[in-house]
Amino acid sequence: MMKDRVYIFDTTLRDGEQSPGASMNTEEKIKIAMQLQKLGVDIIEAGFAAASPGDFDAIRRICEVVDKSRVCSLARAVEKDIVLAGESLEGAALKRIHTFIATSPIHMEHKLKMKPDEVVKRAVEAVKLARTFTDDVEFSCEDAGRSEMPFLKEILDAVIEAGATTLNIPDTVGYRLPQEMGEMIKELSLHVGERAIISVHCHNDLGLAVANSLFSVMNGARQVECTINGLGERAGNAALEEIVMAMKTRSDIFSNVETAIITKEIYPTSRLVAAITGIEPQPNKAIVGKNAFAHESGIHQDGMLKCQETYEIMRAEDIGLEQNRLVLGKHSGRHAFKDRLEALGFELSQEDLDKAFERFKKLADKKKEIFDDDIRMLIASEITNIPQAFELVGLQIADCSAGVPSAAVTIRHNGETITDAGIGDGTIDAIFKTIDRISGHVGVLKDYRVEAVSQGKDALAKVVVNVQFDENRGAVIGHGLSIDTMLASAKAYIGALNSYLSMLPSECSIDSCEGV
Ligand code: KIV
Ligand code: ZN
Repeated sequence: MMKDRVYIFDTTLRDGEQSPGASMNTEEKIKIAMQLQKLGVDIIEAGFAAASPGDFDAIRRICEVVDKSRVCSLARAVEKDIVLAGESLEGAALKRIHTFIATSPIHMEHKLKMKPDEVVKRAVEAVKLARTFTDDVEFSCEDAGRSEMPFLKEILDAVIEAGATTLNIPDTVGYRLPQEMGEMIKELSLHVGERAIISVHCHNDLGLAVANSLFSVMNGARQVECTINGLGERAGNAALEEIVMAMKTRSDIFSNVETAIITKEIYPTSRLVAAITGIEPQPNKAIVGKNAFAHESGIHQDGMLKCQETYEIMRAEDIGLEQNRLVLGKHSGRHAFKDRLEALGFELSQEDLDKAFERFKKLADKKKEIFDDDIRMLIASEITNIPQAFELVGLQIADCSAGVPSAAVTIRHNGETITDAGIGDGTIDAIFKTIDRISGHVGVLKDYRVEAVSQGKDALAKVVVNVQFDENRGAVIGHGLSIDTMLASAKAYIGALNSYLSMLPSECSIDSCEGV
């Protein structure tokens, strides 16, 4: 039987980035976009071009490296937004403009202060303008979940006529229940017929985003918008990995549809997004949580040993997760290291491989046992460690039990090596204040977290900080990885500083605006 394709539209870089504390710099977005392409995502929503010059630039740069997935740029139904979206996609091999306007009575009356007729007119103008840049135009009825059916049909007819090719029905506030969502999509699919593809975009406020997306597919939706690890505004969006694995595992029910996702890339993609955003999925999160394939109770372990299917409905290997095996140690050679990287899905250039091997050897000198998770973190931090305005060269701290906590920090900046020392309320405070003094940028620490990457007393410490360097801009994330927590903290803080500096506009011609 010929199966219908369900297009996977990933919005990790746009809606996902709207998660509190998930802002990413351009280089990080490029790495994620390339991994999303490897995962087999059909459409990558790369950003909201009018939000800031940084967003605009990130979309442009993503277009330069992504050629198999379609790159999409979001725009409100506003002339300036659509022109910027079109310009941001100039270099794309495959492109889409996604424009939207709210259609629910509450949004039209209170937010837009527009009459329904004006909303339809604006939507039609937006789609027509978008079509002058590309023939692939998506239109979204924001807050469709609380919009009235007759009005939805009216506006969808009008935008199809204007040239929209995909019609997105977002449950913007996560209000719908699965059955209702299914009924709504069925009615709209029957109404629209072959004229356009129906898409859904479900938020997770009631924990129903994935269920709502699946019910929509069962009722005719052929595009699903989702994010890696379920990132997104408030409670997040529908998680890509859950939708794809539900459709695959229950192919008896989803027998007439398929996606093009390469499921073995799910776990590496999830790890990359977690490493870059600093937002770890909860341990019991379906598919990609740390415990998703862990069997703790004796009864379960016994069953698993007798027959894996007693307690497992999917195989960990299907999502690219192998056991967190003890793999390498200090005597392991370059060949073994390269083999392990390949098994974990990393393809590095010779130069990157040499650098990673050097870091691995340094780690293996300090840490007896190296696990897969150590290697993943090592590579992810290498990947995210791109252009550095400031680079940590050395750190010395004084034992705080002996008096006032102090730190001496050496940093390289513009080819110059600068050392300074300072005191603080605690050792970490002393390190951060000294970095502030050297760099001339004073940060306010909003969040500080330390986690062990793998197991053992000598586990790698991963420090994640959220720092605000400018009161007019949001906080930025920094990560540091080391066997020594203080060193990891200094690296994380400098990482945040570098990220902040890389996001500063070089020339500011686009007014920044509130996120959608
Ligand atoms: O949730 C929403 O309505 C959105 C739209 C911009 C599609 O993110
Ligand atoms: Zn959304």
